Amino acid sequence: MGIMPDSTAAATAASAERMLSDARRGLLSEPKTLPPTYFYDAKGSMLFDRITRTPEYYLTRAECALLEREADSIAEAGGSPSLVELGAGSAEKSRVLIRALRARGLCDRYVPVDVDPTTLAETAASLVEEFAGLQVIPVVADIRSELRIPSAASRPLLCAFLGSTIGNFSRAEARLLLSRLRGDIGEDGSLLLGLDLVKDIPTIERAYNDAQGLTAEFNLNVLAVLNRELGADFDLAMFEHRAFYDPDLRRIEMHLVSRAMQGVTIPLVGEIELAKGETIRTEISCKYDRDAVEEMLRESGLELERWMEDSGRSFALALAAPADRQAVV
Ligand code: SAH
Ligand code: AVI
Repeated sequence: MGIMPDSTAAATAASAERMLSDARRGLLSEPKTLPPTYFYDAKGSMLFDRITRTPEYYLTRAECALLEREADSIAEAGGSPSLVELGAGSAEKSRVLIRALRARGLCDRYVPVDVDPTTLAETAASLVEEFAGLQVIPVVADIRSELRIPSAASRPLLCAFLGSTIGNFSRAEARLLLSRLRGDIGEDGSLLLGLDLVKDIPTIERAYNDAQGLTAEFNLNVLAVLNRELGADFDLAMFEHRAFYDPDLRRIEMHLVSRAMQGVTIPLVGEIELAKGETIRTEISCKYDRDAVEEMLRESGLELERWMEDSGRSFALALAAPADRQAVV
């Protein structure tokens, strides 16, 4: 028992290549974009953790309350010997789930998957300390392209994707990811998705424009990551954070706005020209309702089995299973 290592070195090498191709694709085209994946170095993960504790960022509080309320029923409906969690981060929420599963004699293996190796190592260490006998198999991977669920994680799997991180994927990307997951969890497996719900615009926009400026710092951090990893020369002071809700697309967009006309050099990518006011879109964060989630699942070969909303109706958990399996609840 304890921590079983995964092949992290290979994963890190692959991610450097991917970062370069993402920077080329996103910054040499119009409009300019960067994937939100690169927010999460050690500093970005720490900033995200602080964001979750701001009064404005309702998502984490709502999801935690919901998990506390529903963990037992989820364990009963979707419990399995192995829990895989995508984008696990500090795994604060998963602890509630692990506790409920283990109370039923389930979950002897926990497989946190994350792109940030630092947070993943800390998470693994703290979980083996908290749960005696739990085997933790941390996997450093970019879930946009690869999902190497170790063979030690025996099927059927319960796969958790919490925090509304699915919202950071476009509809097409989400469909692709969920379809792959449908294959990975096995016929008897289950998927637990955390989803932020459509609500009044000021509440959503405040969550991405906190008064302490942590979200702004988090947003700008992606430029520091590109400076360090790709040798870029972004001047962070020349960019401003902007986050707004698009009611037609039902999503938050986060951008970095160029404060002046400027040129940025990224070796192996080239010279990036930015006009004053031009933006780099760094994140989308989609908001859902039950119909949209059912449709997204259906398009991915999955079926909604349970829909759970918190008392404020601001966040939901969806328990899903392969569509060809008979519903259990
Ligand atoms: N699940 C936690 C953390 C959410 S933050 C919660 O609900 O609070 C998003 C997490 O996903 C971060 O830990 C980040 O490192 C990870 N992440 C972002 N993009 C990723 C990618 N492409 N592949 C794997 N992990 C990713
Ligand atoms: C991880 N993800 C779901 C967060 C979100 O709300 O989209 C990331 C985040 N971006 C700004 N604040 C938090």
